[in-house]
Amino acid sequence: MADLPKSDIADASLAGAGKLRIEWAERSMPVLRQIRERFEKERPFEGIRIAACMHVTTETANLMRALQAGGAELHLCASNPLSTQDDSAAALVHEYGVAVYARNGVDRDGYYAHINAALDCQPHLVFDDGCDLVNVLHTSRRELLDGVRGGCEETTTGVIRLRQMAKDGALAFPMVAVNDTDTKHMFDNRYGTGQSTIDAIFRATNTLIAGKTFVVAGYGYCGKGVAARAQGMGASVVVTEIDPTKALDATMQGFRVLPMAEAAAIGDVFVTVTGNRDVLRREHFEAMKDGAIFANSGHFDIEVDIKALDELAVEKRSKIRHQTDEYVMADGRRLLLLAEGRLVNLGAAEGHPAAVMDMSFADQALTAEWLSRSSDSLSPGVIEVPQEIDQSVARLKLAAMGVAIDVLTPEQEHYLSSWDHGS
Ligand SMILES: NC(=O)c1ccc[n+]([C@@H]2O[C@H](COP(=O)([O-])OP(=O)(O)OC[C@H]3O[C@@H](n4cnc5c(N)ncnc54)[C@H](O)[C@@H]3O)[C@@H](O)[C@H]2O)c1
Repeated sequence: MADLPKSDIADASLAGAGKLRIEWAERSMPVLRQIRERFEKERPFEGIRIAACMHVTTETANLMRALQAGGAELHLCASNPLSTQDDSAAALVHEYGVAVYARNGVDRDGYYAHINAALDCQPHLVFDDGCDLVNVLHTSRRELLDGVRGGCEETTTGVIRLRQMAKDGALAFPMVAVNDTDTKHMFDNRYGTGQSTIDAIFRATNTLIAGKTFVVAGYGYCGKGVAARAQGMGASVVVTEIDPTKALDATMQGFRVLPMAEAAAIGDVFVTVTGNRDVLRREHFEAMKDGAIFANSGHFDIEVDIKALDELAVEKRSKIRHQTDEYVMADGRRLLLLAEGRLVNLGAAEGHPAAVMDMSFADQALTAEWLSRSSDSLSPGVIEVPQEIDQSVARLKLAAMGVAIDVLTPEQEHYLSSWDHGS
């Protein structure tokens, strides 16, 4: 490639391997591929600079390819220091000409330096996954705010932060809550997190799930997916919740619902997916069994109180296996923390399967196209994705899977839009 973009990546020699894996992911992303092919012809992002803070994975690489085909100039940084796939980053730079600032395992300063490097492009549009880039824009890089027309947010935690910013009158441009589309959270959060979280626990520990007591903290979209998969593998699943309706739902789904104070003593494997902090803390570590395994699949590394764990442990044995740290308690119990309490499915496995990210990233690509056309008419705040985009992604995915559905007859359409028929 003649002109390499600016970048900060770990190892350029991984580009070939990364390209192979990006192409492998693309095979399971037919919807995004179709969008890329259309973007290539229509060039909706001609002259538009995009700063994206996302997990640097093979699936994100395919989203970048679609946006690039549409004419965008891209600057990508990582939304989590552990999820960066160094081979994908290398391929993006050296095979596809995308500017990438991401190295697996960078420290906090490196993480924020990469966000700032992406923002240096003076973006017109931003993509965020967790709201860190938008936060930096509104705090230390305010001089760039005027140039930003809008952006998209990928995950639940980011949308919560954005809504809070909007409520405080702090959000300076429209941000579209891509997470809230049905074709994102009903599939990515549920089936993606469900499968990949279990996959990560296997890779990190090779533990047998069958017959174990598996505790899932949080029965939202992600929690439902993790609980269902663990149950399907023969675990006895316990759910902890703070929301009465979600707790009722879990109970009627056949799961045992307990406060964490009770669940802590009986669990063999724990997964937190709440988007909240200190869900596993000192009193829970004190009650856990020898050999208890725990992992977080919520967005930030705040769900497990690692400080308390460090304080309680008399010894820490780091990386006794891939992404498994052992904390030895004063009474000899050994507690096993996976992926340092960060998103386990991205830290200890490869994140969601490409087939599910196909839909999330089709939502992202189509929303960005809509945003680039409509941003002038939108006010600052958190905006919903237009329903037509959500529906069109579902239709394209069904078509790609070879699934046909019924269409309303004219009589049915009339019936559903009228009110005069009684019994
Ligand atoms: N691992 C991944 O790849 C991935 C994918 C999508 C979303 N996420 C993240 O996972 C988290 C959850 O997302 P979601 O879409 O399931 O959100 P959600 O809002 O649907 O569910 C969260 C649930 O946690 C419950 N909760 C809150 N505090 C709790 C506590 N102290 N104890 C027990 N339950 C508690 C809430 O009542 C809610 O039911 C977010 O941080 C989101 O950003 C991760």
